[in-house]
Amino acid sequence: MKPLFPPRLLLLLLSVAVVSAQDTPGPTAPGPDGLDPANLYKALNKDKVLGPHEKFGNPFGNPDDFKGDKLPNDIGTPQFQAADLHEFVGGPAAAPVISSPVDDFLGKFELFTDNSGVCAMHAIVLPNCDHVLMYDATIWRISKILLPNGQCRVLNETTGEKDCYAHSVLLNLKNADLIPSMQLHTDTWCSSGGLTVDGNLISTGGFQGGANTVRHLDNCPKSVWREYPSALAAPRWYSTQAQLADGRMIVIGGRAAQSFEYIPQQEGTSNTKPFFFDFLQQTTDPDENNLYPFVFLSPDKNVFVFANNRSVLLNPNTNAVVKEFPVLPGGHRNYPASGMAVLLPLEVKTEDPNEVPDAEVLVCGGSAHIDSYTLASKNMFYEALQDCGRLKITRPNPNWRRELMPTSRVMGDMVIIFQLSLIYLTRVTIT
Ligand SMILES: *[C@@H]1O[C@H](CO)[C@@H](O)[C@H](O)[C@H]1NC(C)=O
Ligand SMILES: *[C@@H]1O[C@H](CO)[C@@H](O)[C@H](O)[C@H]1NC(C)=O
Repeated sequence: MKPLFPPRLLLLLLSVAVVSAQDTPGPTAPGPDGLDPANLYKALNKDKVLGPHEKFGNPFGNPDDFKGDKLPNDIGTPQFQAADLHEFVGGPAAAPVISSPVDDFLGKFELFTDNSGVCAMHAIVLPNCDHVLMYDATIWRISKILLPNGQCRVLNETTGEKDCYAHSVLLNLKNADLIPSMQLHTDTWCSSGGLTVDGNLISTGGFQGGANTVRHLDNCPKSVWREYPSALAAPRWYSTQAQLADGRMIVIGGRAAQSFEYIPQQEGTSNTKPFFFDFLQQTTDPDENNLYPFVFLSPDKNVFVFANNRSVLLNPNTNAVVKEFPVLPGGHRNYPASGMAVLLPLEVKTEDPNEVPDAEVLVCGGSAHIDSYTLASKNMFYEALQDCGRLKITRPNPNWRRELMPTSRVMGDMVIIFQLSLIYLTRVTIT
C-alpha cells in the first residue's frame, strides 16, 4: 500500500497561493519574490473583496488582533503530571519537545497562478490527467470564473434567478490553464470525497440538497459531474469518506448523522438505510467535536475511526466495532476545533501478500476545551493544543505516545512528504 498523500501537498500549496475571500494565508506566509508579505493582499486582492479580517489592520489576518480576546484562565496544552501519563506508553520520556524548525530552510512557496477561479476548499490532483480538481460551496453563488458560453444554472424557475459562476474547475498543472466547464447542481459545502482505485473522483454529501448526494467525476480533463441527490440514505455534512480494501468506499458521520454507509457500487442507485454507529452518538457533545472523523484503512482491512478523543476499529464486512483503543487524553481533536491526523508510511517487510505491516496513526492539535467553538463564536479564544498522540493501531494492546509540536495548532492539515517528513499546514494558530 502506497501512501497517496504527496498530491495533497501540492494542493495545499496551491490553496494558500490563490486569491480567496474566505481562505487567506497568515501574515507570515512568504510572499512571491519582491513582494512584501504584509502587502501581498494588495497585489492579489485587486477588487478588495471584503473578508472577515477586513475589520483588522491586515486583511490576511494578524494573530495579534486576537490577543486581547484570549481567555485569561486558558490551560492550553495540559502539562501532564507523571500520574496522568499512565495513558501514554513511555510516560513523560515519550514526550520530547521538538525544536522549532524556523532556522532550517525547508523550501519556499511559489505563486503558480494568481487566480484559481474558485476557492480551493476541496482540491485533489486527478492522476489520470494531471489536473487539479478544485471545487467550493455553491451556496455563495459567486466565484472568480464564469461558466463558459454564457451558461447559467437556473436556481428558481418562478423568479428566473440564475447563477452563472463556475464552482468547480480543473487547473492544468503544466500551464496553469483553468477549465471551468463543470456545472455543480448540488452543494458541496463541507462534503467528503476521494479517488477510486482507477483514479476517478467520487464526492459525497454536502449542504442542503447536497447532503444525500453522490457525485461521480471521470474522463478528465473533459469531466462533467454526474450527481445523484438521493444516493445516500442519511444526510452527510462534515462526514469522512474512505477507501476500503475490497474497492468499496465508506462514508462515516456528519452533522446529526450518527451512522455510516457504503457508496452504492452501481452508479445511480440509492442506499435504503444507513448503519447506526453508536460510537458517534457517544462521542458527540454540545459543540459536536466529532465531525469530519479521522478515518484510515488499516492494513488488517478494518477501518480506524477517531472521533473527539476516542477511536475504534470497525469491520466493514460485519459492520461491527472489533476494538476500542484507549482514550487520547488532552482534549478534543475533531471538527469544529479540529486537530489533524495522518496514517504514517507503512513498512512492508516480506513478499507475503497477507503480511499485515504495523500501522501507526498520528493525531495532532485541536482544543483542550469542550466549548472552544461556542466561545470562539463569541470572540473568545482558547489556545490550541500543541500535543500529538501516536498509536500503533495494528498492535494487540497499543497505547498513545505523546509528542509536542513546535507550536499550537487548530484547523490544520498534515501531509507526508518525501523523505518521510511531515509538513504541518494550518489555517489558524493562536500563540
Ligand atoms: C422561488 O421563488 C418563489 C418566489 O419568491 C418562492 O416562493 C419559491 O419558494 C422559490 N422556490 C424555490 C425552489 O426556492
Ligand atoms: C473525552 O471527551 C469527553 C467529551 O466528549 C469528555 O467528557 C471526557 O472527559 C474526555 N476524556 C478524557 C480522558 O479527556
